[in-house]
Amino acid sequence: MKKILVINGPNLNMLGKREPEIYGSRSLDDINRDLKALGETMNTEVDFFQSNIEGEIVTAIHSVLDGYDGCIINAGAYTHYSVAIHDAIAAVEKKPFIEVHLSNVHTREDYRHKSMLSPVCKGVILGFGEKSYSLALKALCED
Ligand code: DQA
Repeated sequence: MKKILVINGPNLNMLGKREPEIYGSRSLDDINRDLKALGETMNTEVDFFQSNIEGEIVTAIHSVLDGYDGCIINAGAYTHYSVAIHDAIAAVEKKPFIEVHLSNVHTREDYRHKSMLSPVCKGVILGFGEKSYSLALKALCED
């Protein structure tokens, strides 16, 4: 059985309430419940971690090294400037990380166009709303 960790960063605990025209009307718990069920259909255990604190995200990334087969990460705004999160993924680079975003960041403000994480991730899926997560899970499970 595979084990995958899904990490969500700052403000993603506000999904459903936060700018629903951009991020949709479903909560993170709703999305996670569906991902858990999808994982079961692919013989994969899916765990979840969310934090608004950069250092806690770094520590969760380190836990992938010994505890998981891969990781799906939506680092929220940290994506665009966190050297610490880039370095944490690089430290665990032998495990596949997929960067996801609900929105298509390239159609939004210029400051969202740069990702610190893409160079150290296996792939990037963005712009499909909550489906970005399920596409990433399928990609990791088929790997
Ligand atoms: C986001 C895009 C980021 O630019 C933003 O800061 C977020 C959410 C997304 O999923 O579309 O918090 O990562």
